[in-house]
Amino acid sequence: MSSNSAPITTPWWRHAVVYQVYPRSFADSNGDGVGDINGIRSKISYLARLGVDAIWINPWYRSPLLDGGYDVADYREIEPRYGTMADAEALIHKAHDHNIRVIADLVPNHTSWEHKWFVQAKTAPIGSAARLRYHIRPGRGDKGAEPPTNWKSVFGGPAWTRLEDGEWYLHLFDVSQPDLNWENPEVVAEFEDVFRFWLDRGIDGFRVDVAHGVVKDMTFPDLEEETGEILSGSKNRGHPFWDQDGVHDIIRGWRLVIDEYADRMMVAEAWVPDADRLARYLRPDEYHQSFDFDFLEAEWDAATWKSLVEEALSSSAAVGSAPTWVLSNHDVMRHPTRYGLPSDTNWRRWLLDGPHDALDVPLGAARAAAATMFVLALPGSTYLYQGEELGLPEVWDLPEEVLDDPVWEQSGHKSKGRDGCRVPIPWTRAGESFGFSSGPGWLPSPHYFADLSAEAQEGDDASSLNLYRRALATRIGLFTADESLAWDDDTPDGVVGFTRGSGARCWINLGNASASLPDGVTVILSSDRNDVKGALAPDSSIWFQS
Ligand code: GLC
Repeated sequence: MSSNSAPITTPWWRHAVVYQVYPRSFADSNGDGVGDINGIRSKISYLARLGVDAIWINPWYRSPLLDGGYDVADYREIEPRYGTMADAEALIHKAHDHNIRVIADLVPNHTSWEHKWFVQAKTAPIGSAARLRYHIRPGRGDKGAEPPTNWKSVFGGPAWTRLEDGEWYLHLFDVSQPDLNWENPEVVAEFEDVFRFWLDRGIDGFRVDVAHGVVKDMTFPDLEEETGEILSGSKNRGHPFWDQDGVHDIIRGWRLVIDEYADRMMVAEAWVPDADRLARYLRPDEYHQSFDFDFLEAEWDAATWKSLVEEALSSSAAVGSAPTWVLSNHDVMRHPTRYGLPSDTNWRRWLLDGPHDALDVPLGAARAAAATMFVLALPGSTYLYQGEELGLPEVWDLPEEVLDDPVWEQSGHKSKGRDGCRVPIPWTRAGESFGFSSGPGWLPSPHYFADLSAEAQEGDDASSLNLYRRALATRIGLFTADESLAWDDDTPDGVVGFTRGSGARCWINLGNASASLPDGVTVILSSDRNDVKGALAPDSSIWFQS
């Protein structure tokens, strides 16, 4: 099969490698244990050397940080713990000086309960305009003591909380994150203005949070199913708050604003049932990109991988777009750990329930490197999550008393949450937080981060850091010159392989046996530290010419 073989008339994002920065955990410049914007600025040269095209910065707006900044109190101010507006502008300039674009994270589904609108809404009269900016409704049953619907919060527990006067407000996430009412034109206008505010400051794009959830079924029906696992969205079509058709009108409005500026983009976080539903977000007047979470969730299996890639290529090509690959982010278990668990493990539950001795660390590390090289060779764009270039695993054994993710409390301690992928980045071998901060970081660092630190990996030719650097540099031209892909039909069992327009090929071995490579290949790059001698070991991948 060959996907869209037209040469790329290159908008920069279409084949970009974007590096996700979780500001709280990236680099701390002032020793308070919380990462900050000046910390990010101090690492721009590191990121340029790594070879990324852009950075996506998780929310940096004023926030009580009850959900890591996804609880925004003011969309036009910087959180003081992260710095100032001048710091943000200096970061944007420095990144641009290094040819790195900057993508901000916009959170339109909900505000913080500290946002001035919600502070007003809480005490405003029932039915008043201030209340209509949110979903605030009377309850059911005797004296309205039952919530308006049976909807569950994604983080666990009911999705409605009662105000003092007896009405209930909707929060699909934490109790501190009231959902905005996107039927209200004032909400629409406010966000258009927020987009412009940041575009005017030089932001190159937006990652839009919970892109699939902003529109609710205003008849507020009860749900027959549970909301499901955190952030796995719903696999059912016709859900009352996920992937409603009305979402697309709102997205089109945002796109008109983005298109007033040259060369800017939007990427959707949309957890939807399948590739076809995802492609709807990628129509020419909607998002430029949408993360492919089906691939992130896939088991280590050749047939599954091939069919998911085929689906992503064909459904995105049908709307003139290209896929967006991601293996790790701040919401999911880091991929070296995910791939180190026995197949069929529910990794969200494994964090708490184990069995923890089932984790195979070297296997996970090998598979992670192989998978990363695989996605970097595909048509489309790839998002990397901070620290994955160091091969950082999930810190799955954080003690319960340090857990900060609202998921932990709101699930009634049934779900451990996402802190294990948010542990501060180790920059140096020494120091309490391995160079993240001058003292301890906001989450404790495990001792083995010393050997995984950027400093420890710098001079080691076989390190994960140097593999990523080589992969990012080599990928340019080989895999970015056009978007064609032809599946190789000479691959042994368990191997998925393809040839790109440049003639460069990528094979990954998802099987159990060593697989012979075609005769006389020239190896470009291999995820396997051992010498490749005519065969591809299980759990490794290779780029080659033949
Ligand atoms: C998104 C974010 C996640 C956050 C949630 C609520 O899924 O990625 O971190 O908790 O939205 O804003």
